[in-house]
Amino acid sequence: MRVATSVSETRTFVKSARSNAKGVGLVPTMGAFHQGHLALMRRATSEQDVVVVSLFVNPTQFAPGEDYRGYPRNFEADARLAESEGVDLIFAPPPEEMYGEVDLTSVRVSKLTEPLCGTHREGHFDGVTTVCAKLFNIVQPDYAYFGEKDYQQLQVIRQMVADLKMPLSIVPVATVREEDGLALSSRNRYLNDEQRAAAPTLYRALQKGAQAVRQGASAIAAEGAVRTELDTQPLLVPQYVSALDPVTLTPPAADGPPMLLAAAAHLGKARLIDNILVEEV
Ligand code: PAJ
Repeated sequence: MRVATSVSETRTFVKSARSNAKGVGLVPTMGAFHQGHLALMRRATSEQDVVVVSLFVNPTQFAPGEDYRGYPRNFEADARLAESEGVDLIFAPPPEEMYGEVDLTSVRVSKLTEPLCGTHREGHFDGVTTVCAKLFNIVQPDYAYFGEKDYQQLQVIRQMVADLKMPLSIVPVATVREEDGLALSSRNRYLNDEQRAAAPTLYRALQKGAQAVRQGASAIAAEGAVRTELDTQPLLVPQYVSALDPVTLTPPAADGPPMLLAAAAHLGKARLIDNILVEEV
């Protein structure tokens, strides 16, 4: 496995690797790898001949006061894990390689970025789309792999790729969970034992909502079912609970599926997000 820190090294590597390869896959990450990241890499290496993982804690997607400085960074351990998954190249640029001294361009997806996390994280999705556009231009992958754990991010990236006619396909990968249901996240390491024990309530609450949706509940009733369960765990402080149309991320026109149930909650120092997509039954 190679490690590149510059755009030019990455381009040179992909260019020569591509000449006798079928497909190039990209897995964009911010590092601190867990089984969720590894599932994306595993899927990519099983489907593509060449797999690039980008590892970049992107400053522009953190709002003021968020955890940019304290975000977990452990390059050596991450590199070992990526290598064991058969990744061909890690692209780990310093911030100045991604953002020039004069950097005046950003990519912004409207509407889909307004609800859910968009309401609570000023400028977050503009940072995500801008850095992903740069990564897609640098690596020029045929496929890029994104987790359903960050459902809104996945939809926003799909829209950007469609709108800007970017020549790649986005591959969604199912959320990897702990045995008790907690979705894996780099931020779970902020939790102490008591908070960790409380954390699965978030997914359990979404499951209650999903059950209600399957029984034909309205969006408002489904949100109520999620909130009622969240209220049983006082350590979890809900930020939003939303039942939305899974494509437009607006309030659904009809009761019952398809519906996206998504929630965010603070738990100590951590902010947890999770979602369930209830498809047609
Ligand atoms: P990061 O949080 O490191 O996540 C990288 C990828 O791993 C994302 O596509 C995310 O959805 C996926 N992922 C995280 N937890 C997962 C889980 N439990 N199961 C399955 N997939 C999971 O998301 C980002 O980084 C950044 O916003 C990025 C896209 C890299 C742009 O900076």
